[in-house]
Amino acid sequence: MEYTRIEVAIENGICTATFTRPDKLNALDRRTLEELDQLADTLLSSNDVSVLIFKGSGKAFVAGADISAMVDMNGQQANEFSTYGQSVFLKIENLPIPVIASINGFCLGGGCELAMACDIRISSNKGKFGQPEVNLGVTPGFGGTQRLSKLTGIGNAIDLLTTGRTIRADEAKSMGLVERVVEHDELDNEVKSLAELIASKCIRAVKANKLTALKGVITPDYQAEAKAFADCFSRGDAKTGMQAFIDKKDPDWR
Ligand code: COA
Repeated sequence: MEYTRIEVAIENGICTATFTRPDKLNALDRRTLEELDQLADTLLSSNDVSVLIFKGSGKAFVAGADISAMVDMNGQQANEFSTYGQSVFLKIENLPIPVIASINGFCLGGGCELAMACDIRISSNKGKFGQPEVNLGVTPGFGGTQRLSKLTGIGNAIDLLTTGRTIRADEAKSMGLVERVVEHDELDNEVKSLAELIASKCIRAVKANKLTALKGVITPDYQAEAKAFADCFSRGDAKTGMQAFIDKKDPDWR
């Protein structure tokens, strides 16, 4: 499959995947997920790449799953979309190489979920984070309900999930959602230096360290998330919230 939603470059053991739909704030549609899936498979069988970087183009890292692609989904389709997205993000999380999210701007919904499936999050001071799904009448569907509390603690996770509020990079850092915040113009250099440092190490030891560290994580319940996500579509709340977003109106939850 030719890459159309991401641009992939590999140099000196560092793979950089850049989202290339800035006009849609790099929203994740099915095609994007398929390309991420393919990239993860390629890297799984590569012995030459030590580290993967995800970055956005334009003013967003990724502003979420593609609302216009979801607005007409029924419960069953939503369950399938959620389960597929979860499987792709799990594949990325379980890659043996460290994965860095380089966050230049909006990092919302599925974008925040992708960043959380990465190992290290570095944000520009223009980074904006949140799980705004509740504003659309739905839950996160790509692992966000399960990964968020692991990074922020349950209190902050439920705050973000149930208010849908957007937070700035410094607050995200104070919650543990990002590891480093740098000046916007310094983001590329900071991420490059980190990736080069990792790529200078013994690749087998890098992989062993990453995979062993991952094993310490509590087993999440992704099926429960996919069911909650799909139920929002079966009830019609997703249609109400997403159509309102598309029509640029406030949703009427009654
Ligand atoms: N899915 C589909 N399209 C999206 C999108 C998403 N998640 N996020 C942004 N876009 C589109 C907008 O519809 C708009 O398209 P248009 O120019 O054809 O109208 C374009 O990207 C630019 O976004 P816009 O809203 O005009 O930018 P903004 O700077 O005014 O606002 C956000 C930026 C991020 C605050 C706003 O786009 C937003 O709230 N996006 C949705 C975030 C979200 O709910 N994510 C979770 C989805 S489950």
